[in-house]
Amino acid sequence: MDVVVERPFAAPRHGLRRADPCAFVIFGASGDLTKRLLLPALYNLAAAQLLADGFCLVGVARGYLSADEFRGNMREALRTYATAKTTPETLDRLLSCCRYVRGDFDDASTYARLQAELDDAARAGGTHGNCLFYLATPPDLFAPVALELGKSGLAREEGGAWRRLVIEKPFGFDLASARALNRELLEVFSEGQIYRIDHYLGKETVQNIMVLRFANGMFEPIWNRDHIDHVQITVAETVSVEQRGKLYDHTGALRDMVPNHLFQLLALTAMEPPNCFAADAVRTEKLKAITAAHLPANDRVLADVVRGQYTAGPVNGKAVPGYRAAGGVAPRSTTETYVAMRLMIDNWRWAGVPFYLRTGKALGARRTEIAIKFKSAPFTPFRDTPVERLTRNLLVLRIQPDEGAALHFNAKIPGPKIRIENVRMDFNYKDYFDEAPSTGYETLIYDCMTGDPTLFQRADNIEAGWRVVEPILRAWRQADGSDLAAYQAGSDGPAAAGELIERGGHEWRPIA
Ligand SMILES: NC(=O)c1ccc[n+]([C@@H]2O[C@H](COP(=O)([O-])OP(=O)(O)OC[C@H]3O[C@@H](n4cnc5c(N)ncnc54)[C@H](OP(=O)(O)O)[C@@H]3O)[C@@H](O)[C@H]2O)c1
Repeated sequence: MDVVVERPFAAPRHGLRRADPCAFVIFGASGDLTKRLLLPALYNLAAAQLLADGFCLVGVARGYLSADEFRGNMREALRTYATAKTTPETLDRLLSCCRYVRGDFDDASTYARLQAELDDAARAGGTHGNCLFYLATPPDLFAPVALELGKSGLAREEGGAWRRLVIEKPFGFDLASARALNRELLEVFSEGQIYRIDHYLGKETVQNIMVLRFANGMFEPIWNRDHIDHVQITVAETVSVEQRGKLYDHTGALRDMVPNHLFQLLALTAMEPPNCFAADAVRTEKLKAITAAHLPANDRVLADVVRGQYTAGPVNGKAVPGYRAAGGVAPRSTTETYVAMRLMIDNWRWAGVPFYLRTGKALGARRTEIAIKFKSAPFTPFRDTPVERLTRNLLVLRIQPDEGAALHFNAKIPGPKIRIENVRMDFNYKDYFDEAPSTGYETLIYDCMTGDPTLFQRADNIEAGWRVVEPILRAWRQADGSDLAAYQAGSDGPAAAGELIERGGHEWRPIA
């Protein structure tokens, strides 16, 4: 991530160089991710003139299609999912460089045909032999495809050309499988060639957490245990599992959201300032923050973690059936669709400051935010006045849907007596910046093509996240579902989550 003032997808965009010429190879090019997010993001990059002249897109999938039919499918996908009105010139430019390779991913001849296509693209279009292999496949194919790329020689960097591998989430199912996957990938690619994507890190407001903390002198001096009472990190979704029941029932909210998205937000909030914005300086500080995070007591895990599952209820006025009624979900499933927990961070900055994390599906509102509650003023001179209670200061960093930040503080109500009310100073991104609609993948794809891994997870970051949640997975296995709390779809989550935070003398911010 270059530190420049301009954002890539909003005018003005001078100061950013075009990405390196390369072949962008998508395994799983017939899937939802390709159509809904990757292709629209590539279109936005093309429109912003950030793709090199030598760029080409190679779709690899098992459907019997001609290259023209593949281009037709991609055109159709852009018609449905482009984030802004497309122009015929950009559309034609992007589609004209699309190629297609049909094949099964476990068949060596697929990789031989891919090699021939890449050689042809290098000759015709000038990719300089650079290749980005994007695995938009089910997770159980990540290692097999990487191994085949290794066997066929496609992972080898020769003659100054680079070869990179992008891995989607979920990265592993637990600590052991994440370690095994890292091991398998590292047999073929070096760590510097692997880009483990967490699309949360492509969001402008997530990246802005670092800027807010480290580009302003006023926050850092109070960003510690002396001034902060506790932190709440919320990722609330209104969507239910919908058609993803079968997949989700094996995953659940903890695996789906916590070691990746929520821990990235936690790391950005809790990390020490890096000494520069070089990828490894940032990733090492994030790693240290995640490594220091832990449940308060390993022998009482269930006291600090709540899991819940939604029952039928209205979400935004629409009836949502209970989780167990969703297609593909076991009728007596104990998979959690909600999780809340209290974590502590063992270091000088955060000792004694609880971090409360919660995430869930089918909740009353869609909201991602980090709320930082400050300690009370050390002395209040308002004892002999009508002031009954002072509210603690609060800083809320809103990630989505309305991106911005708000500072809540106390102010005097006009009038002859001292009366105080909590007021809010609000900053909205859209009031200041001309944001082009984006998918959230543009920055990440651009960074892969320019070789900047700052916003990607290193192997040790991934494993550190799994290490923190491992005791929870173990405790849940032993509890066999007995601690699963029900919550109605459209609510703020299970009552037990409220009790969890109340035990610490705090309360959740309302979701809806
Ligand atoms: N969709 C999203 O919004 C999203 C967001 C974040 C992460 N992800 C991750 O991105 C990856 C892809 O997700 P998706 O939603 O695009 O999935 P998807 O719609 O199911 O597409 C999967 C792709 O993989 C191919 N595939 C599946 N099994 C295969 C096999 N045995 N051999 C060869 N090809 C096979 C499919 O080909 P066929 O068409 O021939 O079946 C399809 O092209 C997953 O790891 C997912 O967790 C997705």
